[in-house]
This record gives sequence, C-alpha cells and structure tokens, in this order.
Amino acid sequence: MPERTYRPRRAVLFVPASNEKAIAKLPSLACDAVIFDLEDSVAPEAKVAARERLSAWFAARPKQGPECVIRINPPAGEWGREDLAAAIACAPDAILLPKVDTPRDIHDFDDALDGTDAPETLKLWIMVETPKAMLNIGALAEFGRDRAARLDCFVAGTNDLIKDTGVLAAPDRRYIMPWLMQMVLAARAGGLDVLDGVSNDFRDLDAFARECAEGAAMGFDGKTLIHPAQIEPALQAFSPSANAVTEAEAIKAAFALPENLEKGVISIGGRMIERLHLAQAERLLARAGRLSGRL
Ligand code: COA
Ligand code: MG
Repeated sequence: MPERTYRPRRAVLFVPASNEKAIAKLPSLACDAVIFDLEDSVAPEAKVAARERLSAWFAARPKQGPECVIRINPPAGEWGREDLAAAIACAPDAILLPKVDTPRDIHDFDDALDGTDAPETLKLWIMVETPKAMLNIGALAEFGRDRAARLDCFVAGTNDLIKDTGVLAAPDRRYIMPWLMQMVLAARAGGLDVLDGVSNDFRDLDAFARECAEGAAMGFDGKTLIHPAQIEPALQAFSPSANAVTEAEAIKAAFALPENLEKGVISIGGRMIERLHLAQAERLLARAGRLSGRL
C-alpha cells in the first residue's frame, strides 16, 4: 500500500463545542488539529445548542488553520443521528466516532453516509476506548487498508478504558500500557495514525512532558490534549529531535559515499547500519523537512 501524505497530528486539542470562550481562543493556538466535541464534555441539556454553535463556526471557518474534526455522540444513541447530519453539513476534515466496539460500527457509519453529500475526502477517526474495541483492534485496523471505509486515525480513549475495565489510573499508566501498545501495533498494521490519550492533570506540565515523551517513544503520532498549555510540549515531543535529525543525516551521508553505494550494510561508530535504517532515516528527514517552519 502506498504511504499516505504526511499530515502532522502531534498536538490535537479537544474543545467542548459548548464552550464559546474556548472556541473563540482557537485562532491564537498553534495545535495541528482540533477536535470539536459534542460527546462526553457536553452536558445533555447543552447538546443542541452546542451543535448549532458548531454549524455557525464551520460556516465561517477560516481557509487556513488546523485540521478540524468533529466528535459526535454514538449514532445509535439519543443525539447521534442529528449530530452526524450536522457534522456532515459542517464539512470537517474528519468525524470522530466514539465508543466503537466492532467492525459493524464502521460498516454502519459507512451506510449512514450513503446518500448524503459527504465528500470523498471526509475521513473517519475512531475512539479506541472500550474493552470490545481492544479485543477487535486488529479487525478495526484492517479498515485502514480499504480507502472506501475512510478510516484514518485511532484515538486512545484512556479515561473510558480505565472506567470500563476497573484498572487503577496509575500515574505511570502501567495497567493500560499493554492496550496502548496494541493500539500502536494495530494502527501500523492498518497504515493508520494513532494518537495517545489525554492527560487530565493539565496544571502539572512536567508530568505532561514526561507522558508526551513516553507516547512518542511508544510510537504514537501525537497526543490528544484538553488545554492550551499542553500544545507546546506535545509539539516538541512529537517532532523529530535535533539529535535524531543529525543521526539520520549521518546515515544518509554514509550510504552516499562512493565506496558504500553498492553495500547493503555498513558500520557507523561501531553500529551496524542496514539499508532499512537508511529508509527510516530518509522518512524522518522528510518529516522534519515538512515540519520545518511549523514549530
Ligand atoms: N480549548 C481551547 N481553549 C481552552 C481550552 C480548550 N480545550 N481549555 C481552556 N481553554 C482556554 C480557556 O477558555 C481560557 O481562555 P482565556 O484565556 O480566554 O480566559 C484559557 O484557555 C485558560 O483556561 P483555564 O482557566 O486554565 O481552564 P478552564 O478552567 O477554563 O478549563 C477545562 C479547564 C478542563 C474545563 C477545559 O480545559 C476543557 O474543557 N478542556 C477540554 C475538555 C474536553 O474536551 N474533554 C473531552 C475529551 S477528553
Ligand atoms: Mg470517551
């Protein structure tokens, strides 16, 4: 499968669609993407007004700016169908489906889009936040191989996973770690992006920076955020570091030497470097190149 165009999703900010003040702040924020939330952060009595506020915002959406995603309520529930219709009319870059359990949910989403004027470019993101989704993670990721299914990104819903499983919300995330790693593995198998879950403690930015570094080391493409103060640390953590860029350039330069042009494996500073490392280095440099000027 050809590699997809790279789109940075390092810092992805949730904004409750009911929060007028937070929405007004968006033009001053440098996040890569925004998820306008109609689901858990919006109280039942505020759902309808939140949906209307969103329609008004998208009608005047600036041409430039972050990728815009709308998280709707579960389509089978009380607000879901109307959310979906309103979201399609907003023409966001993607719709984020919560509480996905099985492949059936993705087929149902697909069916619900039939006959609507949703453009082909509209993507589907899904929350991975239920025990059933974890058990079905491989099958869900398979939709990444089928363009018609629109699936583009997994979002780890760690608060719901903790709630539904009863594990302790340990500061080092030790009990949810195996599930997070499964999400990354499945996303790679399906050619999808995958975003780490939110950190609720938005005042402790040291702990947040540690969690971002951990998420980047685990292979996540970025992190979902709940507060503007979290944007900068996430951008830093999920961008290639200066050291990684230097190392990648050294690998590229070494393979470009005349004596190494035909070689499959070389040694740099006592380390074995194969052509697969060259491919990895070139990918990192391409990503760093596209990001330059954005940080
Ligand atoms: N997006 C945009 N702006 C936000 C924001 C967000 N998610 N969260 C806070 N802000 C704004 C505030 O409106 C405030 O703006 P101001 O400078 O114009 O006054 C500023 O950032 C500072 O906010 P602060 O006072 O520190 O926080 P708060 O008490 O207003 O909000 C939360 C705290 C947690 C209620 C709020 O951050 C929030 O709702 N986050 C998103 C929750 C969410 O979407 N959850 C669902 C997914 S898990
Ligand atoms: Mg959730």
